[in-house]
Amino acid sequence: MRITVIGCGYLGATHAAAMADLGHEVLGMEIDPEKRAALSRGEVSMFEPQLAEVLSRHVESGRLRFTGSYAEVAAFGELHFVCVGTPQQPESLAADVSQVETAFAGLAPHLDHPTLVVGKSTVPVGTAEWMAQVLTANSPVGSEALLAWNPEFLREGFAVQDTLHPDRIVMGLQDGRAEKLLRDFYAPMIDEGTPVVVTDYATAELVKVAANAFLATKISFINAMAEVCEATGADVVDLADSIGYDDRIGRRFLNAGIGFGGGCLPKDIRAFVHRAGELGIEDAMTFLRHIDDVNQRQRERVVDIARAMVGGKLAGARIGVWGAAFKPDSDDVRDSPALWISGQLHLRGARVRVYDPQANVTAGQGYPTLSYADSAIEACQGADLVLHLTEWPEFRQITPADLDGVVARQRIFDGRNVLDLDAWRSAGWKVRALGRR
Ligand code: UDX
Repeated sequence: MRITVIGCGYLGATHAAAMADLGHEVLGMEIDPEKRAALSRGEVSMFEPQLAEVLSRHVESGRLRFTGSYAEVAAFGELHFVCVGTPQQPESLAADVSQVETAFAGLAPHLDHPTLVVGKSTVPVGTAEWMAQVLTANSPVGSEALLAWNPEFLREGFAVQDTLHPDRIVMGLQDGRAEKLLRDFYAPMIDEGTPVVVTDYATAELVKVAANAFLATKISFINAMAEVCEATGADVVDLADSIGYDDRIGRRFLNAGIGFGGGCLPKDIRAFVHRAGELGIEDAMTFLRHIDDVNQRQRERVVDIARAMVGGKLAGARIGVWGAAFKPDSDDVRDSPALWISGQLHLRGARVRVYDPQANVTAGQGYPTLSYADSAIEACQGADLVLHLTEWPEFRQITPADLDGVVARQRIFDGRNVLDLDAWRSAGWKVRALGRR
C-alpha cells in the first residue's frame, strides 16, 4: 500500500521504516528541515537498535522518502498515520496536543479523495472525536475522510521489533471501512496471530494511557515495598521474585530501583490525572499522583543515601556515575532519574563524573555543567562513591578488581539492583542498594 507517516520522531521514524520493511511504499512528513534532510540521507538522530539500518536500507531502495508538504502527503497515500509528539505542557501536567492539531489541520484541506487518517500519538481521551470533526469540517471530501485511532505500544530499545511484532493491535473507529483498510494493512501481523481489538475512539485512546499507568503502578508499588524492606531487614529482590511467581502478578516490571523515567510513563500518568480532573473524576485517579510521588521520592532518597555514604557532606565529594539514559539500550535522557540524581548531587556541591555508553552526548546537551567520562572506569577516577544508575550490561561486567587503585574510597550504590552485592562486599567495598539486605 502507499502510506504516509506524519511526524518522524521516535514513533514516526520507526513506523515509517518498519512499514517500508513490510513492503509498503512510504512517504514520511517531517516539518523540521534539518531532521528531514538527515532522514533523507538515511540517518536517525537517536540510538535505537536496528532502526538506522532498516531506515537507510529503505531510503536506498526508494521505498521510503521524506517531504515537508501536506499537499504531497495527501496526494501520495491511501492511509495517513499521525505520529507526532504530545509532550507535557511546560506549566501544567496536561499533554500538549498542539502538534496533533497542527497535523490534522494541515492535512485536512488537501484530502480531496476518500481516505483514512490513523492517529497513533498518545492523546488525552476525547482528542480523536475532536480530530474526526476537524477532518470532516475541513476536508473537501467531508465525512469521506475517515479517522481511526490505533495506539502504539513500542518500547525504546525494542522499537523496530515491537512495531513489526506488536503484542496487540487496537483499532478505535466508527466505520467498517476503516476496519477493513486497517486489517488489510496489518495483515502480516494479524496472520502471525497478533490479537486485534476493535473498539471506539475513547477506549482506544484510554488503552495506551491505562497500560502506561498500570506499568508505572507496578514499578512504584515495588519501590514502595523496597522502602518497607529497608525498614524491616527484608530483601526486595527475593520479595519480587516470590510474588512474581504468581501468574496473576507476574515478575516483569517489578524491578525496584531509582524509578521510572523517559518520554512516556511520567508524562502519560500526569496527563491522565489532568484529564481526569477535566472530566470531573479526579478522585478516581488520585492514586496516580501517589504513583508519581513514590517515583520522585526514589530519586530524592538516592541523593540522601549518597550524602550519607560520603560521610554527610556532598560539597567537594567526588562521585562517579554509571549511566545517564533513562534505561539501557537508549540514548534518551528525557526525565531520566539517573541524570536528575547526578544534577542534584552536582547542585549540592559534589564533583560528579558521568559515563553512559550511548547517552553522554544527549546528557551533555541537557546538563552541560556535569562532567562526562569516556569509560566507566574513567568516571570513577579518584571517586569517593560510585553510583550505578542505569543498568547497561557492561556495568555488570565490572569487577571490584577493575577499580583497584582507581577509586579513592571503596563505596558503591546499586540503583538498579542488578550488581552482585556479595562480590563487592567480599572485596571490602561498602555497598548499598534500594530495598536490599
Ligand atoms: C514505555 C512503555 O513500556 C511502552 O509500552 C510505551 O509505548 C512507552 O512507554 P519506554 O518509555 O520505552 O516504554 O520504557 P519502559 O521499558 O517501559 O521503561 C520505563 C521506565 O521504567 C524506565 O526508566 C525503566 O528503567 C523503568 N523500569 C522498568 C523500572 O524502574 N523497573 C522495572 O521493573 C521496569
